[in-house]
Amino acid sequence: MILITGDVHCPHDISKLKPDNFPDGHLTKNDYLIVCGDMGIVWDGSKHDEYWKEWFEQRNYTTLFVDGNHENHPLLNEYPVVEWHGGKVHQIMPSVLHLMRGQIFDIEGSSFLALGGAKSHDIEYRIEGLSWWREEVFSQDDYIEAIRNLRKRDFLVDYVISHDCPSHVLPAIGSYLERNEHTDMLEKIYQQIGYTRWYFGHHHVNMTLPENMRCLYEDIIEVK
Ligand SMILES: [Fe+2]
Repeated sequence: MILITGDVHCPHDISKLKPDNFPDGHLTKNDYLIVCGDMGIVWDGSKHDEYWKEWFEQRNYTTLFVDGNHENHPLLNEYPVVEWHGGKVHQIMPSVLHLMRGQIFDIEGSSFLALGGAKSHDIEYRIEGLSWWREEVFSQDDYIEAIRNLRKRDFLVDYVISHDCPSHVLPAIGSYLERNEHTDMLEKIYQQIGYTRWYFGHHHVNMTLPENMRCLYEDIIEVK
């Protein structure tokens, strides 16, 4: 079974995954929970990180996440890169994996394109290297990697998992956030691919959108 949810911002939005709200007794490590970014477990390398990494490792399922803007990207990049289900991941824990940008994974017979990252809108209140990292946005290298992998699949995937959404989707969400170089990069990819469903987080709403897109926050749904 593959489940998917929105931002966790560990520990701020972890309650949806606490056993009282999300009993996982029926799941095994061969089941997956995908988090659409802002995971928040690789933040400062402190005991906070260690506690929550271990917390996810102790769950009955395997946790997969794309990165959001609220991650420590340089620290994330220090984790070992491992080939997993056809794409590259950072192995945070044995069963907690970061789906790297532009990679495509084959899971339970479906393909998943990972497009992490987003542009923070509050950097004036943040400190570079402590609470904000410029690697948060999709780079040209990330884009080249995504296109390189998509080309091998004739630009067709079953699912797209991103943190933010393509620029043209923003008005439909009613987001106060404006388009930026990151959403434009997602837009550029959107224009070139075919997909069955596209899931993303970042906007803190649960909303079904046109073009088979869905924004997730508290909702935990099954990917079918
Ligand atoms: Fe975010």
